[in-house]
Amino acid sequence: MFQNPEETYCIAHSTAQSKLLADLERVTFLRSAYPHMISGALQGRVLAMISKLVKPLRVLEIGTFTGYSALCLCEGLQPGGSVITIDNNPEIELIAKSYFSQSSWKDQIELKIGDAVTILPTLNQGFDLIFIDADKENYPVYYALAVSLLNSGGLMLVDNVLWGGKVLQPAVHHDKETRGVLSFNQLLVNDSAMEVVMIPLRDGLTMARKVS
Ligand SMILES: C[S@@+](CC[C@H](N)C(=O)[O-])C[C@H]1O[C@@H](n2cnc3c(N)ncnc32)[C@H](O)[C@@H]1O
Repeated sequence: MFQNPEETYCIAHSTAQSKLLADLERVTFLRSAYPHMISGALQGRVLAMISKLVKPLRVLEIGTFTGYSALCLCEGLQPGGSVITIDNNPEIELIAKSYFSQSSWKDQIELKIGDAVTILPTLNQGFDLIFIDADKENYPVYYALAVSLLNSGGLMLVDNVLWGGKVLQPAVHHDKETRGVLSFNQLLVNDSAMEVVMIPLRDGLTMARKVS
C-alpha cells in the first residue's frame, strides 16, 4: 500500500499473495497505528520464495507485528516444521493469532509475547531460518543472540538495513535506531562465519548464510 510505481509493477508481475494475506494486509492498514511496518505483498512474496528454497524445519522471527511475515515464512516449512515468532506488543496478539488460526499452519506457529532480548536466550538452538524485523536499536544485540541459534548452513534475513536511507547520512544526523542498524550492518559484514548479501528491496533486506 504506499507503493512506488516500480513496486506496483513488480507486484503485478509476481505470483499473487493468498486471499488470507491480502485480508490481513487490509485489516492491518485499517486497524493498526503503524501499518507501514508490515512486510507487504512484494517483500512477503520474497520471504515466501526464500522459505520455499530453504525448506526450513525450524523458523524464528523477531518482530511479529500482525503476523504477515510469519505466515509468508510458513509457506516453505517442511511437514512437521514450526515457526516461533516474538513480539513485545500485547496489542498485536489478537489479530496475529486470529490470522494464524485461519491458516494451514495454525498448529505450527507459536507466538511469544515479550521482549526478544529476554526470550531469545531461553530458546533451544537449531533454527534453519531466522528473520530479524524488530526495534532497530537492538539489531546488534539480536544478531549476537540469533547467530548462536542458527544452524550451520542456515539463513538469516534482516529487514530495514537501509533504514530509509539514514545509513548514508552524516553521523551528526544519526539517531539511536540508525546507529543500531549501522553497527549491525558492520558487524555482519565483518563476521567471517557469515556470507552476506544486502539487497535494496524496499527498505533494504540482508540475506546472511552461516557458513561455519
Ligand atoms: C516492523 S514490525 C514487524 C513487521 C512484521 N515482521 C511484518 O513483516 O509484518 C516490528 C515489530 O517489532 C516489535 N518489537 C519492537 N521491539 C521489540 C522487542 N524488544 N522485542 C520484541 N518485539 C519488539 C514491535 O512491537 C513491532 O510489532
